[in-house]
Formats: sequence, C-alpha cells, structure tokens
Amino acid sequence: MELDPFSHEFHEDPYPVYRWLRDNAPCYRNEKVGFYALSRYQDVLEASQQPLLYSSAEGTTIETLDTTAMLPMMIFMDPPDHDVQRKLVSRAFTPRAIADLEPFVRATAIQCLEPLQEKGGGDFVEEFSAILPMNVIMELLGVPAADRNQLRHWMDASLDRLEEPPYIPDHAIEAMAQSSGYWASLLADKRAHPDDGFVSKLCAAEIENDDGTTSRLTDREVIGFASLIGSAGTETLTKLLANSAVLFHRNPDEWQKVLGNPSKIPGAVEETLRYWAPSQYQGRVLTDDVTVHDVDMPKGSRVLLLTGAANHDEREYDDPDRFDVDRGTHVAVGFGYGLHFCLGAALARLEGRIGLEEFARRFPAYEIDEANVRRVHMSNVHGFASVPFAAA
Ligand code: HEM
Repeated sequence: MELDPFSHEFHEDPYPVYRWLRDNAPCYRNEKVGFYALSRYQDVLEASQQPLLYSSAEGTTIETLDTTAMLPMMIFMDPPDHDVQRKLVSRAFTPRAIADLEPFVRATAIQCLEPLQEKGGGDFVEEFSAILPMNVIMELLGVPAADRNQLRHWMDASLDRLEEPPYIPDHAIEAMAQSSGYWASLLADKRAHPDDGFVSKLCAAEIENDDGTTSRLTDREVIGFASLIGSAGTETLTKLLANSAVLFHRNPDEWQKVLGNPSKIPGAVEETLRYWAPSQYQGRVLTDDVTVHDVDMPKGSRVLLLTGAANHDEREYDDPDRFDVDRGTHVAVGFGYGLHFCLGAALARLEGRIGLEEFARRFPAYEIDEANVRRVHMSNVHGFASVPFAAA
C-alpha cells in the first residue's frame, strides 16, 4: 500500500490507507516523493509537542517552500519568532473576544441562506459554506465587500495541486502572486485611511522588545498576517461546513438527533472535524535525527503528522469509522496541537455551530445530488468544491 497525498483517488477516501499505515507502517517512508509519515494518534500528539525538533520553518505541506522568499507567517515559524507574532494577535481570537461576534456571524449566515431557501436549494459550497467564512474574516480584516470573491478565488486557486510533479500548477503560482499583490495594495490603502479593521490594528500594534524598547510590524509582516488569516479563515471552514452537510446526508439518523436537539450541534461540529478533518496533515522538517517505531529518520527529513489518520485511530477512539454526534469530548487533533494549535479555533467553532443551526432551521429535510458532488485537489486541505443540494 502506498500513501500518495496528491492522488485524486486518495482524496476520495484516505481512510483505508490510513488504517493500513497505522497497523503496518506507523512510521512510514515514501521514497518516491521523499517524506516520512506518522499516523497513530499518540505519535502525532508527541511530535506536535516538540516544535523545535519537528520544525515548521520550511513549510507545513509536502512541497518544500522557500519560506525566506515568502511573506513571513507564524505558521511557518519556530520559537522564539513564532511566539512574538502569536502573542501580538492572540488577544483578538480568544473565545471571549470571539463570542462577541455571534450576532454578526448569525446575520451573515442568514444573509447567505435566505436566497437559497427562496429558490429551494443551490450549491452548498459556492453559495453558503465558502461565502459565510469569507464574509466573516474579510469583514474582520477590513477587506471591501466588492473585492472579496476575487480574493477568495485567488486563495482557492493558489492551493490547487497536480497529481504528478511539479505538483504546483502555474495557475496556483500566479494566483499566489495576485493575492499577495492584493494584500500589499490593501495595506497601502489602510496606511493612508486607517479603519477599525484588523489590518489597520496590526499597522498600529507595538511589539515590546527584550531591551524595553518597542517596534512596529514591517509591511511584509502585516501582509503575511493578513494573507495567513484570510486564507486559513476561509479554506478550512468552507470544507468543514460542506463536509458536515454531506456527512449528515449520508447519516440521516445523526441528522435527526441534531434536529431533535440543537444543543447537540457543537458536538456535531467536533465530530465532523474528527471524522473528515479539513486539514489532513501538518508537514514538518526534522532539526535532528529521530527514531520512531525502529525507523531512523535523519535530520532534514520531511515528516507528515497525519492528523486525518490520528483522528481515526482505533487505539484512541471506539469504532472510529462511525459518525457519531454524541461521541463526547476528547483532545481532538483536527485543529492541530501544541504551539501551532489553530489560532482561529474559537471562531471556527462559532461559525460551524451557527452555520449548522441556521441551515437546520431552513433545510430540516434536504437531498444532495451525490453524483455531482465535486472535491478539491489541494495539498493538505480535503473537502468539496461543489455540493449541489435541494430541499426535500
Ligand atoms: C474548521 C476550521 C479550521 C481548521 C480545521 C483549522 C485547522 C488548523 C490546523 C490543523 C492548524 C495547525 C497547523 C500546524 O500545526 O502547522 C491551524 C493553525 C492556524 N489556524 Fe486554523 N483552522 C481552522 C480555522 C481557522 C480560522 C477561522 C482562522 C482565522 C483566524 C485560522 C487561523 C489559523 C492560524 C493563524 C494558524 C497558525 C497558528 C500558529 O502557527 O500558531 N484557522 N489551523
């Protein structure tokens, strides 16, 4: 059995491969592409807790990224640089700060869903699950409404991957340049006309240095933040919400439980995150030699922490391939773990809950046109590009 994270067949259903890996090659080596992979829950957790050994500084996907040429982003930084950047923004994303956004998130969800209700259905992704998180995060960042869809399409396209080398298509590279260019022009605009948005706040934020002096973020750092949060805040939530719509369609008894008792919705969001993780792995590069399950991994090796596989580890979860909204609390690794734990987890949980609550209110019975459901083919992001549905 082979783990080929670029294969379209793998994207359809990675779980049989993951099971094989956990049982037969818990520290797996792919010679062809050149990486190792950890698939058991405990191993993924342990590696995630050693960010200096399992470094993020060369990118978190399989493809090596020249992070020195890229915009600076904390997701691709190790301590201490990472911690300085994270401290600066974390206050804006605490569960308490995020709870204040509930009325705005609900109004945004309703705005997407009302036209769908009137016409009796549509594309769950293009008309709802991509638009809700886009409008929420772009509003927070201060991106004008007229620019949002274009920017979203560039961010989407920049994540597209091919099945064969060079893996990154030309249109993805062009889209990366276009979205970076957009963020740079937005920054120039915010410097000239500051507003209440996050980009303006980042421009004004002061960093305390060790010697007691203060400094400000550079333009490249502000743009790096904006593009990281803009992309991380839309891509994964788009997938999470659409994954839940498809999963509930395929598990009608679980949907009935949620309809009968909406207080189960937060549990349903967690279970979707576990069952079909929108982010399937986190890539790292070893800063020293490491041996796991008798496999020697030399310094400089690329290692995938397969959170998608860890989430289905029978050593951690009973009957892991059952979708169960009553599964209860656990340390889920769907948002990553340790130092790089998702900054936007509280916002994602809020948008996931409200998105599902408002969808359930308007579409208690719905059908998905399964024959025309289409997946994205990205690096570590798994989910749907299109989910046609109609009220039943
Ligand atoms: C369902 C939705 C989401 C999922 C599944 C998700 C998943 C993840 C995962 C797995 C990581 C860890 C990456 C690593 O260890 O290399 C991460 C980090 C991150 N996420 Fe999310 N995310 C979601 C939503 C969001 C949102 C809404 C935001 C917006 C603020 C966001 C911002 C970030 C940032 C900035 C990081 C980097 C944190 C750091 O390096 O310290 N995410 N996310």
